This record gives sequence, C-alpha cells and structure tokens, in this order.
Amino acid sequence: MAAFIPWLKFIHLSALLLWCGGLFALPALLAQYRGTRGRVDRRRLQAATRFTYIAVASPAAVVAVVAGTLLIHPTQSYGNWMLAKLTLVAAMVCFHAICGKLILVLHDRRDRAPQRLHLMLVAIPALLVPLVLWLVLAQPVFGPQA
Ligand code: HEM
Repeated sequence: MAAFIPWLKFIHLSALLLWCGGLFALPALLAQYRGTRGRVDRRRLQAATRFTYIAVASPAAVVAVVAGTLLIHPTQSYGNWMLAKLTLVAAMVCFHAICGKLILVLHDRRDRAPQRLHLMLVAIPALLVPLVLWLVLAQPVFGPQA
C-alpha cells in the first residue's frame, strides 16, 4: 500500500487544485449575471457557469474526497487536526452546494442582488482553503498531548 501513497497524494492534490479553483471561479461567474445584455450573452454565461460546476468542480470534489479518504489509513492520519480538517471540508462542500443552488436560482430569473454580494462570496473559500492547507501541513496537536 505504501507504494500507492505518492500516487494517491498526486491524485488528491491534482483534484483539489481543480475543485478549489472552481470554488473561487464560481462567485466571479455568478457576479456576471447582473451585467448580461440580451439572451445570447446570458446563455453564454449560463453555459460557462454550468460547465465550471458540472464538468470541473463537482467531479474534482468527488475525486479529492475519495482520494483523501483512501489516504487516511495508510498515512495514519487519526489526529484531531484531521477532525478539524474534515469539519472545514464539510463547510467547503456546503459552499459548493450553495453555488449549485444559486446557479439554479439565477437560471430563470433576473438577478436583483448587487454584483458585489456574489463577489463577496469568494471570501468563504478564501478563508476555508488556507485554513485546511494549514491544518494538513502543520498537523497541529489540539487538546492534551499523548
Ligand atoms: C474529505 C476530504 C479530505 C480527506 C479525507 C483528506 C485526507 C487527507 C490525508 C489522509 C492526507 C495525507 C496526510 C499525510 O500524509 O500526513 C491528505 C493530504 C493532503 N491534503 Fe487532504 N483530505 C481531504 C480534503 C482536502 C482539502 C479540501 C484540502 C485543501 C484545501 C486538502 C489538502 C491536502 C494537502 C495539501 C495534503 C498533502 C499534505 C502532505 O503530504 O504533507 N485535503 N489529505
């Protein structure tokens, strides 16, 4: 199994790159809805947003989570930092789902929310992703030490 760890990490990190990239791109794409002029413009933006969500971010999220889960046992990642990481990853998954909901909502009706509101959503992955990276790279010990 040890021979597979570098490959699993490679798959995990490659998928994370795509997933996190998608989470940063989606708020920017959603913010463009308000500025669209005409049907063609809007359809083009809808296609780009759906492609980013369905073809890039969602499959990458599944691959990242599956590869990460497969890494837990061989790397003996049973510390509290892992629990904290999984909590933050759950928050990333919730944000992913909220973006999906917003795509559906904005598909049929004109966007009344100010452009800034959707752009501000980028603060959520901007907070979560570095925190997860810090947890996994520093592997801090919480609570009483063994
Ligand atoms: C359910 C989701 C996830 C699980 C179960 C998971 C699990 C793991 C495990 C077990 C490792 C190996 C740790 C080690 O070698 O000590 C790892 C490595 C890593 N994970 Fe995740 N992970 C998940 C999601 C994420 C996310 C969302 C990020 C970043 C935003 C991330 C970033 C990393 C990085 C950078 C490494 C490499 C650390 C190193 O080799 O030093 N992971 N992950």
